[in-house]
Amino acid sequence: MRLAKLTSLLWSILLAALMMPVVASSSQSDIEKKIDALIARMTLEEKLGQLQQLDGEANGNYRSEHIELARRGLLGSTLNVRGARRTNELQRVAVEQSRLKIPLIFGFDVIHGYRTIFPVPLAEAASWDAALVERAAAVAASEAAAAGVRWTFAPMVDIARDSRWGRIVEGAGEDPYLGAVMAAARVRGFQGRDYSAPDKVVACAKHWVGYGAAEGGRDYNTTDMSENRLREVYFPPFKAAVHAGVGTFMSAFNDLNGVPTSANPFTLTKVLRDEWKFDGFVVSDYESIRELINHGLVADESEAAHAALSAGVDMEMVSRTYGKYAPALIRQGKLSQRIIDNAVRRILRIKFRLGLFDKPYADETREQRALLSRSNIATAREVAARSLVLLKNERNVLPLSKEVRSIAVIGTLADNQTDMLGSWSGDGRKEDVVTLLDGIRAKVPQTKITYAKGCTVSGTTDGADETRLIDEAVRAARESDVAIVAVGESADMSGEAASRASLDLPGRQLELVKAVVAVGKPVVVVLMNGRPLTISWIADNAPAILEAWFGGSQAGNAIADVLFGDVSPSGKLPVTFPRAVGQLPLYYARKNTGRPPDPANKYTSKYLDVPVTPLYPFGFGLSYTAFRLTALRLSSPSIAQGNHMKVSTDVENVGARIGDEVVQLYVRDVAASVTRPLKELKGFERITLKPGEKRRVEFILSTEQLGFYDRNMRFVVEPGEFRVYVGTNSAEGLEASFRVVE
Ligand code: NOJ
Repeated sequence: MRLAKLTSLLWSILLAALMMPVVASSSQSDIEKKIDALIARMTLEEKLGQLQQLDGEANGNYRSEHIELARRGLLGSTLNVRGARRTNELQRVAVEQSRLKIPLIFGFDVIHGYRTIFPVPLAEAASWDAALVERAAAVAASEAAAAGVRWTFAPMVDIARDSRWGRIVEGAGEDPYLGAVMAAARVRGFQGRDYSAPDKVVACAKHWVGYGAAEGGRDYNTTDMSENRLREVYFPPFKAAVHAGVGTFMSAFNDLNGVPTSANPFTLTKVLRDEWKFDGFVVSDYESIRELINHGLVADESEAAHAALSAGVDMEMVSRTYGKYAPALIRQGKLSQRIIDNAVRRILRIKFRLGLFDKPYADETREQRALLSRSNIATAREVAARSLVLLKNERNVLPLSKEVRSIAVIGTLADNQTDMLGSWSGDGRKEDVVTLLDGIRAKVPQTKITYAKGCTVSGTTDGADETRLIDEAVRAARESDVAIVAVGESADMSGEAASRASLDLPGRQLELVKAVVAVGKPVVVVLMNGRPLTISWIADNAPAILEAWFGGSQAGNAIADVLFGDVSPSGKLPVTFPRAVGQLPLYYARKNTGRPPDPANKYTSKYLDVPVTPLYPFGFGLSYTAFRLTALRLSSPSIAQGNHMKVSTDVENVGARIGDEVVQLYVRDVAASVTRPLKELKGFERITLKPGEKRRVEFILSTEQLGFYDRNMRFVVEPGEFRVYVGTNSAEGLEASFRVVE
């Protein structure tokens, strides 16, 4: 018998432990006194200066204007300025030449690594391994801090159920529970227990909130949803970040139920500050305050400043409405001085907790040593390998034998360093990246490798040339024992402002795969992409498919580790793969409807042309070995309110190799005062089993985990029948029932 680690009860205990405030270098009450003293000395201009964040140059330099503003105390923060020497130069002006010597806080998008680049966040979430994801964030933090960046605009914890939305790549996918686990892990990794440590950064939960539900999957678009859905699906990862002690939040670009999130008092003040007691600060997204005019919420910049400040956005990113208009708004009695003071207080609080007043400078001698260290690279390789998801493996094509005589490696993406970095790649450099071709060559140096480009990703070269390239690829496949075809998206096809209306493989890549499969040799398709793609033909016809996402600096080595069996694949999809784009939004935790899909009855909830089921369900992923789950048991047929029960199952490795399985626990509330999803993830555990080994996995399920928001927005657990499912993905598993009783 073995106790599950990430089940609800333990999860709440864990959250409670994580709620402990960060231990900053000075105690909290000392900090508040210091803030009082500072605020008492600040002019209104200096206060508004603290609320202003300005952008540096793309290459990491500050702008000359920043020097003057820092000297006059009119700048609180920059983004994109990085590098120990450059941040120190600007910091020296703020700390040594300004009247009150308040340090700047340097922010940057350290999303999946600073210089050592990890897999894109969606890929990391596919590891379903919180400890691993925490380690990756810790490496990113140590490198960023060494380069003078003490604030990352991460984690992005937006739930995304529509893969047309390009930013799905930046988050943990579709599920609030997995999203919450990953959010907390990333915050812990970035911040540690005390982010005043020199190798830690303060994290930023973004984008608050509902950004991932953009209508039509079109970036920056409007979202409109019930408060139940907001609270049950979109809030949980943010709440987990708050529980983990996250220091900052970023408001979003989107309109939410008619009130843009960068001026939304309900989300920014009522929920975040009043209900959740968040005491850090909120930064706006890039110019999202000025954009309130475009939204049609306000008529001009003065009204924009008023709306955002009074809703609870403390720091303004890039647009400059606060500094310009707040003085007049205060003079006219439209804005209270208290709102400004509160915003300044929250920003200073984080600067104190970061230890910036005591140690404002980065150690310039440490930067080079800290970046891309041997151990950071090793961690990146491990994380990348554990993020891979094996989607298909007919006749055990994989793993490949290292004795194979010849391999055709096909596809532009197989020989491309830039795209492996994925979107938001910090200060990552393409020359640091190991491509798939490099990784394979290093893994099997004796094997004859023939590389053929096949076609471009986007299909933008002229057709004749592409046809020649496809012919070359076919020839390479014909002359080799095995073909590995890398297809997918270029990195810039997902991420910000990278929504797509089609999820098909772009360009002529599908034609390429078809031509190579037609050769009749064993073919392995390696997908490289930042979102689920519609790959039905490949799913039906290619014998093996490995989802490799964008794996970062060590992508090629990690993929080769898995292709040749040094690592057994163990990732699970954090997001549903649709069959057709028209199914979107598609997610496993759907409602049953009054007419659940029934193939025999036309008048049920389905499509005429595509099945309602996904191509690959949430939680799905194969291994080189096989697992059997048996003997699902509940410790009792019912639970009383406030209690918990044990749900356990035997898991046996019935294959021939050692491997990991992620055992997943789902529940369904059969009848409730507000309709409930068919399944909701409530726990998971990753275990490693040797061939023939059998182990009992046990989850603790508490009634707290069975609650939801009722029609009056009260969190309730209602008595009645529940179903529980334990399986290796969201679509299949063992099933049992129990009751919640008063
Ligand atoms: C806009 C993006 O939406 C946000 O995620 C990012 O942190 C900021 N730009 C700063 O780069």
